[in-house]
Amino acid sequence: MNIIIMGPPGAGKGTQADFIKAAFPIPHISTGDMFREAVANGTELGKEAKKYMDGGQLVPDEVTIGIVKERLAQPDCKEGFLLDGFPRTTVQAEALAQVLADMGRKVEAAINVAVPDEVLIERITGRVSCSNCKTVYHTKFKPPAQAGKCDKCGGELVQRSDDTGETVRKRLVVYAAQTKPLLEYYEKQGVLHDINGNRDTREVFADIKRLLENL
Ligand code: AP5
Ligand code: ZN
Repeated sequence: MNIIIMGPPGAGKGTQADFIKAAFPIPHISTGDMFREAVANGTELGKEAKKYMDGGQLVPDEVTIGIVKERLAQPDCKEGFLLDGFPRTTVQAEALAQVLADMGRKVEAAINVAVPDEVLIERITGRVSCSNCKTVYHTKFKPPAQAGKCDKCGGELVQRSDDTGETVRKRLVVYAAQTKPLLEYYEKQGVLHDINGNRDTREVFADIKRLLENL
């Protein structure tokens, strides 16, 4: 199962990816999570990525393609993968197609989680996540039992540094200019599936599950 989950910032890609990996035995590969981990670990990659992420810009293609190639070569990706947040440019999509072709594989489904812009801003600005176990919450749509504390581990809930004001708007502009054109790229290949993401998370997942079971 070689799957991509796409959609604008805040559409619920990470939320749906958690449901998908619980129901299907494939690794979840999020380039955003990989960069955030590198930032937290203070690596060279993290230092480089942070400059772009905090400005709402994309990390350069060569850097991003490099880490995804390395990840897809790991043994746990043999039976498939769920890519989240990659590809985000035409150059990345073409690099992915080439890497997969070299392995005799291809993208089987590109799931596009569609959500209107005004809803995206409310979702992103209300998002908080656990500084310890990374569980994602929303102050209004998925509040923790005790404000500011993780239900699972009691860790402190924090906001992502790119989830405020101007950076959020910049990310939406970058999405529209650089990533949205990829929908047409996958539609032409006959693998694009639009899912209405502006519903309860379980309703959204029910549609995704049906789609994946019928692949
Ligand atoms: P990345 O981490 O990929 O961020 P993103 O695409 O902006 O997506 P988000 O993580 O903001 O949102 P999501 O769709 O996962 O939503 P979530 O499920 O959390 O990338 C960050 C940065 O890294 C980029 O800006 C770039 O700099 C860099 N980067 C990453 N990949 C790259 C690449 N390939 N190339 C270059 N640079 C790259 O949900 C959002 C909130 O809404 C949560 O609080 C959640 O609880 C809530 N929610 C979710 N679904 C629902 C629902 N149905 N109803 C109500 N609330 C909901
Ligand atoms: Zn936690």
